[in-house]
Amino acid sequence: EKVSLRIKVNGKAHELFVEPRVTLLDLLREQLALTGTKKGCDHGQCGACTVHIDGTRVNSCLQLAVMNEGKEITTIEGLANEDVLHPMQAAFIKHDGFQCGYCTPGQIMSAVACVREGHAGSKGEIREYMSGNICRCGAYPNIVDAIEEVHK
Ligand code: FES
Repeated sequence: EKVSLRIKVNGKAHELFVEPRVTLLDLLREQLALTGTKKGCDHGQCGACTVHIDGTRVNSCLQLAVMNEGKEITTIEGLANEDVLHPMQAAFIKHDGFQCGYCTPGQIMSAVACVREGHAGSKGEIREYMSGNICRCGAYPNIVDAIEEVHK
């Protein structure tokens, strides 16, 4: 049986009906068509599904959608300001912080949280904070460079 859910996503309020078993990740991708948030592993191991819930980064595959009544979700689609990229998005482009791009939305959502929460003081600190975001292409050094630049 579906239950009602009111959430805000990227500043827009939604009143939805969802099955209790649906993850936040599937809600975003399938019900709201926000496919920027990626599904890599679907069990908390890769970070491709990272979003912010009330400003805190979370693996959206590990959240049931219905746990988020009244919460405010930000996805990769909500970072840019109209046509102006978020500074972290611009830094990833400048530093080639991706190859295939599949992990990039999750990397960027974690990277924004990394700087905002004050964990970008050194390369080691950044690597530690970003360790839950896996990149099969091995773009890690460039990702760290991008985060360092935004932190400065
Ligand atoms: Fe959520 Fe991999 S899809 S951590």
